[in-house]
This record gives sequence, structure tokens and C-alpha cells, in this order.
Amino acid sequence: MKAYFHRRYHLSASHRLHTAALSTEANRVTYGKCNNPFGHGHNYVVELCVSGQVDPATGMVINLADLDLIAEREILSRHDHTNLNTLKDFENRVPTTENLCIAIFDRVAPAISGAQLEKVRVEETGKNFFEYSGRQQEFPHSVAAD
Ligand code: NI
Repeated sequence: MKAYFHRRYHLSASHRLHTAALSTEANRVTYGKCNNPFGHGHNYVVELCVSGQVDPATGMVINLADLDLIAEREILSRHDHTNLNTLKDFENRVPTTENLCIAIFDRVAPAISGAQLEKVRVEETGKNFFEYSGRQQEFPHSVAAD
């Protein structure tokens, strides 16, 4: 009896979209105001979707207190009230929200036991949100970057 559990966390951080792979002008054209030198902030909403069998004893997919501990350790303590550009997670990748989803997924997925992280969804603004479901669900034509 598989079920899905979703839980939301709030994360405030700043970032600047900029890559050393492009010229100053190309960065400006590609990222627009998101390339402004001193960055800008977002109040991100991070949603974790966890699936698993409903435990016949507890009636739960995962104990939310356990998930909160993982979220605190792997997401909030690392990313909340930071400048994402300064973090090791973004040393070699631009801190877009796509890449934030991937960084969160890659940290949280192995930390969960007895259930499975299905998806990470991050809302950047009221208009933009992003999702990542792990490498196994990548587009068939894509090539893993590393
Ligand atoms: Ni932004």
C-alpha cells in the first residue's frame, strides 16, 4: 500500500546567476537582472515528496519528525540565510533553482531510510517553481553531466 507524503520547508537565501563559462556581457544577456553583481534574495518554499509503504503499525509512510530532522540537517542548516554562491554545493554550478533542487535531492535522498524521496519541488517566487526527481527519471536523451 504505497502512499505519498509531502512536507514544506521555508528557506531564505540570496544568489547571483553568473557563470565563469560566459563573458561578462553574455552573463548579462543570459541572466538579465539576476546577474546584478550583488545578488538578490528569495523566500524559497522547498517541498519534499516521500513515498513508501504505509507502515501497518504506525499508519505512516515516514515519521514527519524524522523527516524534519533530515531537512534541518541537510537543507536548512546548510542553505537558510546564506548566499548560495558561497556554498560548496554551488562551487561548480550556477545557483539556479533547478540546481538547488538537484543539490537538495542529492543530499536528502540518501539520508532517508525506510521510504523513498520521490521529488523535490522548490518555489522560487509565486510564479516560478522547479522539480527534480533524481537521475533515474531524467529525460531519455539526456547525458549525465558527471
Ligand atoms: Ni533569483
